[in-house]
Amino acid sequence: MLNTGILKELHGAMKSGKESKIYHGIDPKGEEVAVKIFLTTSNIFRHGRLKYIRGDPRFKDIPHDTTSLVDQWASKEYKNLELADHAGISVPKPIHVEKNVLILGFIGKDGIPAPVLREVRLQAAADWYKKIIELIKQMYDKAKLVHGDLSEYNIMIPNGYPVIIDFGQAVTTEHPEARAFLERDIGNINHYFEGLNVRTQSPAAVIPKDRVGVLVGSGGTVKSTIEDKLFVDLKIDSPSGAVEIGVKPDAPDPSGALQAKDIVLAIGRGFSPERAFRLFSEDNTLDIIDLHDFFGKNEAEIRRVDGRIIGREGKTRRILEELTGTAISVSGHTVSIIGGYEAVTMAKDALEKLIKGRQHGTVYKFLRRRRQEIKKEKALGLWEGQVPTAKKP
Ligand SMILES: Nc1ncnc2c1ncn2[C@@H]1O[C@H](COP(=O)(O)OP(=O)(O)O)[C@@H](O)[C@H]1O
Ligand SMILES: [Mg+2]
Repeated sequence: MLNTGILKELHGAMKSGKESKIYHGIDPKGEEVAVKIFLTTSNIFRHGRLKYIRGDPRFKDIPHDTTSLVDQWASKEYKNLELADHAGISVPKPIHVEKNVLILGFIGKDGIPAPVLREVRLQAAADWYKKIIELIKQMYDKAKLVHGDLSEYNIMIPNGYPVIIDFGQAVTTEHPEARAFLERDIGNINHYFEGLNVRTQSPAAVIPKDRVGVLVGSGGTVKSTIEDKLFVDLKIDSPSGAVEIGVKPDAPDPSGALQAKDIVLAIGRGFSPERAFRLFSEDNTLDIIDLHDFFGKNEAEIRRVDGRIIGREGKTRRILEELTGTAISVSGHTVSIIGGYEAVTMAKDALEKLIKGRQHGTVYKFLRRRRQEIKKEKALGLWEGQVPTAKKP
C-alpha cells in the first residue's frame, strides 16, 4: 500500500489486540491515519465471528478458509464505518480497505491515540452518558446499525466528544439478533456508568416494533396505567422499539422499575395488556423460553414447535393454561409464561416436554398428576404457595 499511493509512511504498532494490530501512518497529504491490520491466524476468530456474519444479507457466501474470512471481516468493518459515517455518526473516517488491512482517520494527535472512555476521568459523567445513549440511538435510527461490542473500551474520547470505534462485528438492524445485541450494548454502557454513580435509564427493554402500539394503548391508556401504578416513566422510542424505564422521584421504592420492565417485555412477547397486567401482583412472575436455545437458527423447526404449542385454534395453549393456572404466549421464537412461581415452573416443565417432542396426551397426564400431588402436599401443609387453579385467562 505504500506503493499504491494510499500511505506515505507506516510507523510502529500502537496497539495490538488478540485479533488485530493498529499502526500509525501518514497519508500522501501528510495527514495522520490509523492502519488496522487483522491477523489471519486465529481459529477462535473464525468461531467467534461467524454469528455476526451469518444473518447479514451482505455476507451471503461465508468463505471456508480463515484467510478470506478475515479479509471479509476487514471489509465488513469498512462498510459498517461507511454506513455510520454517511449517517453522520461520530466514528473514524473509513479511508481504504484492502485484503486484511483497513485505513482509518486517526483519532488522536502526533501518533498518540486519544484515550478510550475507560481511561478518562469524566467531568459531568451524566452528560456523557446521555451523549453516548443518544449516539447508540442515532446509529440504530439513521445508520440502521447495531454495534454489538460496545463498551468503555470501544469509545474513544479525543476532545470533548465521543468517537465509537471497532465496527467489525456491527450488524444491520435486520440481523435476527440485532435487538439482542442492542440491548447488550445499552446494558454494557449502563453498567459502566452505574459504576460512576450515574443514574442510568436502566432497566431498558427492547420490544418488537409491531408491539409498540399495544404498549402505548389507545389514547396512551396502557402506558399511563403502568406509569401510574408503578411510579415509573416510560420513554418509548417507536422506530427502534427501545423502552427506557425511569423511576419517578416520588416512588415509594425503586423496584417498580423491574416490575414495569417485566410488563413491557410481556407485552412485547405477545401478551395482551390485560394478561400482562397480572404482573402488577408481586406474586406473579414472567418466564421466557427461547426456542433458539433448543433449535438454534432452525426457523422451520421453530415454526413447527410454535404450532404444536398453540394447537388447533389455540386449543393446546388453552389446556396448558387451564391445567397450570398460567397465561402463555407464543410469539416467534419465544414462549412466555406468566403466573405464580410454582405454576410457572410446572408450565415450563410441560412446555419443554412438548418442545422436545413428547405427545400432548402424555404431557397433559403429567400436569394432572402434578396437580394432584400439589393438592395432597397442600393438604399436608407442605407448602404455602398458591395452588394453580383453572382460572380463565
Ligand atoms: N482510528 C483510530 N485512531 C487512533 N487509534 C485507534 C483508532 N482505532 C483504534 N485505535 C486504537 O486501537 C485500539 C484497538 O482498536 P479496535 O478497533 O478496538 O480493535 P480491536 O478489535 O483489537 O479491539 C483502540 O482501543 C484504540 O486505542
Ligand atoms: Mg476494541
